[in-house]
Amino acid sequence: MKVILVNGSSRKNGCTGAALAEVERALREEGVETEQVFIGNEPLPDCIACRKCRELGRCVFNDSVNEFAERAKEADGFVFGSPVYYAHPSARLLTFMDRAFYSGGRHFAFKPAAAVLSARRAGTTASFDVLNKYFTICSMPVVSSTYWNHVYGTQPEEVTEDKEGLMTMYNIGKNMAWLLKCIALGKKQGLEHPTNEKILTNFTR
Ligand SMILES: Cc1cc2nc3c(=O)[nH]c(=O)nc-3n(C[C@H](O)[C@H](O)[C@H](O)COP(=O)(O)O)c2cc1C
Repeated sequence: MKVILVNGSSRKNGCTGAALAEVERALREEGVETEQVFIGNEPLPDCIACRKCRELGRCVFNDSVNEFAERAKEADGFVFGSPVYYAHPSARLLTFMDRAFYSGGRHFAFKPAAAVLSARRAGTTASFDVLNKYFTICSMPVVSSTYWNHVYGTQPEEVTEDKEGLMTMYNIGKNMAWLLKCIALGKKQGLEHPTNEKILTNFTR
């Protein structure tokens, strides 16, 4: 059982990293294997809507997004973390997720996911909504916690003072481990996920 935690901050060991580490701690306590993926701070191309991924099964830009999509095939769950920038998640993470989900959405379906945010002060719940929308268009069970998933701070040391924020992170890890175990048990008993219907309607005037 493995969960990939994606750090969408430009600062590997910043506040988002501190939040993810707490989710990871709870997952590991429950015997769940974890892997952190730092999306880096080099420029990342946006989705250019070429739709070549439909033929290739991967993005035309052969970079960290494709590497992540490969790893995602083997993962059982995901946590995506981001700092709040002007009341939205980091543009880099959105670019990363646009391309990963558009080219490799099938690798995420029916796998539990959670979003976590870090902010100095505001914009966390608006950003939380944005990240959750990737999950809910891809048949991913959304793992909730005991508050909306955010921590406060500008430096990781400040995050350690946000006891409620850290507790929220810890509870995400525990809740995700529980859901993963339920899914594994179901599979063992022959319970497979449904096959979703797919109808696309493009409305025009
Ligand atoms: C460009 C930019 C925009 C930001 N916008 C917000 C904001 O809208 N609300 C907020 O509370 N903090 C904002 N911040 C602060 C970061 O969200 C906060 O310091 C966060 O915890 C940093 O996480 P990190 O250390 O993982 O990068 C902003 C920071 C930057 C660099």
